[in-house]
Amino acid sequence: MPEALVTGATAGIGAAFARRLASDGFGVVLVARDAARLEELARSLRADHGVPVEVLVADLAADAGIARVEQRVATVDLVVNNAGFGQQGEFLETEVSAEVAMLRVHCEAVLRITKAALPGMLTRRRGGVINVASVAAFFSRGTYSASKSWVVVFSDSVREQVRSSGVHVMALCPGWVRTEFHERSGMDTSGIPDSLWLDRETLVAAAIRDFRRGTAVSVPDVRYKTAAALGKLLPRPLMTRIAARAGSKH
Ligand SMILES: NC(=O)c1ccc[n+]([C@@H]2O[C@H](COP(=O)([O-])OP(=O)(O)OC[C@H]3O[C@@H](n4cnc5c(N)ncnc54)[C@H](OP(=O)(O)O)[C@@H]3O)[C@@H](O)[C@H]2O)c1
Repeated sequence: MPEALVTGATAGIGAAFARRLASDGFGVVLVARDAARLEELARSLRADHGVPVEVLVADLAADAGIARVEQRVATVDLVVNNAGFGQQGEFLETEVSAEVAMLRVHCEAVLRITKAALPGMLTRRRGGVINVASVAAFFSRGTYSASKSWVVVFSDSVREQVRSSGVHVMALCPGWVRTEFHERSGMDTSGIPDSLWLDRETLVAAAIRDFRRGTAVSVPDVRYKTAAALGKLLPRPLMTRIAARAGSKH
């Protein structure tokens, strides 16, 4: 039975990935900090899909937490590096510890878990890694978009190294998705029209379809594909000013 490991599985996009992969017949390893919520999800996945589900409690902003996942991931077929969080406030207002924690979860954990997972996948000549970035990767706004931009570039370069090996590495760039993300980071989303919100299950279905097709950077939904293309095409100073103005509203 193939095995998947999903970080940030207690809520939102990660929980949707875990549910979908369990229903596809994967044994699942669920990673996050909240042990009670992970156990609850594990029970529900076992009951609904009859697959083995393991709970791995780890804080991915801490060296020991990342190390625990590195040790587990060698035999896993599909890794979804999804754990993440947003932040309210301008760079000059935030605590430096929060900025560094974001880099650890969004970048260091993604790097170390990917590095630990790939040798086994390459030996088996199958499987891969989905790294959850964001459409924010194509705009310059704070450490969040800088870290998600890193995820896209990192995934691109690793994918090139494993080309023709049967292993695939994909960056997933969601637009707005209804999860706990915005409330946890204290963002005001009241100005975002209902029509712009993506459904988690639809997002995950599109991501898995793109992964199977060998897509390099998956941007589900045509509106967000357009936004990402604009972010890449606009002159950088103009793109940065637009991102600053749009971001300050939330
Ligand atoms: N929602 C959106 O609009 C949106 C858009 C673009 C990209 N994304 C990206 O999608 C990913 C998932 O976000 P979401 O929207 O599903 O948010 P969410 O509902 O807030 O879920 C975030 C998950 O990350 C886990 N997590 C956070 N910090 C962690 C840490 N230090 N160690 C381990 N796990 C940690 C949380 O679990 P615990 O609290 O239990 O640890 C939770 O399971 C993130 O990378 C985010 O940047 C989201």
